[in-house]
Formats: sequence, structure tokens, C-alpha cells
Amino acid sequence: MSENTAQLTYQGNTYDLPVVKGSEDELGVDISKLRATSGLITLDVGFKNTGSTTSEVTFLDGEKGILRYRGYSIEDLCEHSTFSEVAYLLINGELPTAQEFEQFKVDISRHTLVHENVRKIFDGFPADAHPMGVLSSLVTSLTAFHPESLDPNRDPKMVDLTIHRLIAKLPTLASWVYKKSIGHPLMYPENKLGYIENFMKMMFGLPVEDYEIDPILVDALDKLLILHADHEQNCSAATVRVVGSSQASLYVAIAAGINALWGPLHGGANQAVIEMLEDIHASGGNVDKFIEKAKDPEDPFRLMGFGHRVYKNFDPRAKIIKKHADAVLDKLGINDPLLEIAKGLEEKALNDEYFKARKLYPNVDFYSGIIYKAMGFPTEMFTVLFALGRLPGWIAQWKESRNLNQPISRPRQIYTGEVARPYPTK
Ligand code: MLT
Repeated sequence: MSENTAQLTYQGNTYDLPVVKGSEDELGVDISKLRATSGLITLDVGFKNTGSTTSEVTFLDGEKGILRYRGYSIEDLCEHSTFSEVAYLLINGELPTAQEFEQFKVDISRHTLVHENVRKIFDGFPADAHPMGVLSSLVTSLTAFHPESLDPNRDPKMVDLTIHRLIAKLPTLASWVYKKSIGHPLMYPENKLGYIENFMKMMFGLPVEDYEIDPILVDALDKLLILHADHEQNCSAATVRVVGSSQASLYVAIAAGINALWGPLHGGANQAVIEMLEDIHASGGNVDKFIEKAKDPEDPFRLMGFGHRVYKNFDPRAKIIKKHADAVLDKLGINDPLLEIAKGLEEKALNDEYFKARKLYPNVDFYSGIIYKAMGFPTEMFTVLFALGRLPGWIAQWKESRNLNQPISRPRQIYTGEVARPYPTK
């Protein structure tokens, strides 16, 4: 058996399976021919042990707390790049030159407006509709207004156009959803502003007065979007790739990603943090009591925003964003009991042996929830902000899958239902 082969023995027969090695020495057994040669399939509910693709986009090491986009650490990207540059990097594979970046900004800003008839569709939604449902519906509706660019195989220029349109229009649509929920007039984009500044103005500005852009808040949001921009084959990215594999248009693959992200087990986690803080506040705000409840195995209470499924020692995104959380709270001088409770929980948990031993450190959702709340975003918009950040990652994952000409995703199953039986006759 060669070093690059694994063997599976079943009922006296041995099958050689190639072992694929990644650039960071990750190993995977290639079972793509297993069924044809042995009649066996693998069973891995939830795909926790299954590599669905090779990928050059994002590297993540949960043990060591490493996250890199296209080989660059998120620490370096947050220090030296803006979200728009990171978007370019993820989608195109390299950081832009100054000239390429200027062109990219022009390509994006010329598409920030949304067809006026999309507003008519938008008008039909109730003001209290969940923003994620409205957002994914509006993204799907774009297919009706840009039918010339739906075919992912037709013309690479049309694919680029769709990519630019999505990046440009998502902030506009996201701000509409928020403005409607509070009964404010919808704001139009201002193309001379940067990507984040423009979004903040559409969210919090009013047509009747100037909007003062706060660089600390812009910087914090920029970094948060960078930190959410990709996370390899997570639920929504995998969804985007699966939908894209049917050769449906990029618009609907992204709409599917938004819907996948909506779930509380995925993008809804930072909203759950704020809801937990509200519960603690409503029951008297005693942080010590809830720390003890979290330690009690008999107590169903769980600390939201602590620990992470993938990061076993610390969440590298949380390390970066913590200082922005402090800067935003200092700047805004927030006097909010929920944020006081959050600070208390963070301090207690970071110094408590129980939490230290179990690696229950505050994760990115803990800090992002706090920052978004301090900035004035309502909790229902938190997942929308996650979607804005994740959009370039989804696009990069979709583009890679299409460039590799990957076949339609079609998992198999082990059937456990009734075997063939006679149809009952009277
Ligand atoms: C993410 O950033 O997508 C989340 O941490 C979830 C995940 O990676 O599974």
C-alpha cells in the first residue's frame, strides 16, 4: 500500500482509496469511486467528517485558532485591509493593486441603486417581517430585473456584473428593511462614500439632515465584516455551493445562503447573546447567579456566545474584535444595563477556573452582539449584518465551485423505511 493510499477491508475484499493531502497537510480519504468498486457508501449525518470539496479560499485550524483568507491571516487583514479589499481578495484570489481596487470600487458603486420596481415588491412586506426573509426574497427578486445575467455559464463578464450588483445592492436592501421597520423614509445610496460609510448613512441617516460619520464605528463595523467574510464550508457556504451546483443563477444561490444563515444555529447566535442578556436583566441582573447556573450540569441555562464548535482553544475573531468592542463602548459612553451585564459576564468567565478549563471563552458572536447593540442596530438586524459580511465568502465559494466545474451535489442515503409491501385491497 502506498503512503498515499488508505485501505478498506469488507467481507474479505480490500479496496484501495487514494489519500488527498492539502497544502496545510490536511488529509482526506477520497471515496468518490467507493460505491462503484464496492457497492458501499459512507454515512456521515451532518457531514461533520466529510470534505465536500477541495478549496483554495479559506484555511481554518480550530485547535490552533487560525483563520486565513487566501493565505493571509485575519489579524493581518484586519490591520492592513478594508472590507472591500478583503472582498476583492476572496473573490479574485489576490489582493488588488491600487488600480484594480479603484476599478473595483467604481464597479461596485455604479450598482448601488436598486430598480424602482423592486420597491413595489418590498412595499408588500409587513413592516415587522423578519429582515432575513425580506432580504432573501428581494435578492431572489433581482433575477426578474436582471434576466440577462442569470446563466452562470454564458459569459464571465455577466458573472462579474452579477457579483458587483450583489455586493453593491445588499447594503441598500438591508437598510431599506430596517428603515421600514421603524417607519422612516428609505435612504438612497451616496456613491462618493466608502462602502461602510454609505451603509451606515443609509441605516442611520435621514433625508432632512446631515449624517455625521464616526470613524470609530465605521472601523469597528469594517473589521466585523472582515471577520465574518468567510469560514470555509459552513452551513450557508455549503448551501451556496450546493444550489450553485445545479447551475441556478448566482442571485438565487446567494438568496439560499441568506436563508441558511438565518437559522439560530448559524447566523442567529449573536442575537441569542442579546436575548440571554435580556433574560439575565429581567431576572434582576445578578451575574454571579448566572455564572453558577452555567456551571451547574442540572441547570438547563447555557451561556450564549461562549466557546465555539470549531475553535477548541480560542476564537481568533473574538481576540481581534474585543478591542473594538471596548473602543465602541468607550466612544458611545453607553449606559445600558445589558452591556454592563455583558462586561460582568466576560470578566467573571475569563477569570473563572471552570470556564478556563473548558475553554469557554467569549466568542465572536458575544462581542459582535455587544457592538451591534451599542451602535444602535436592533437585534433582528444582527444576522443581516452577518450576511453583508459573509457575501464575498459566499461568492468566492460559488465561483470556485463553478470554475472547478463541480458536478451537481447529490448525496446518497441509507434507506431505513418499509421494504416493498403489497398495496392493501378491500
Ligand atoms: C461561521 O462563521 O460560519 C460560524 O462560525 C459557523 C461555522 O463555521 O460553522
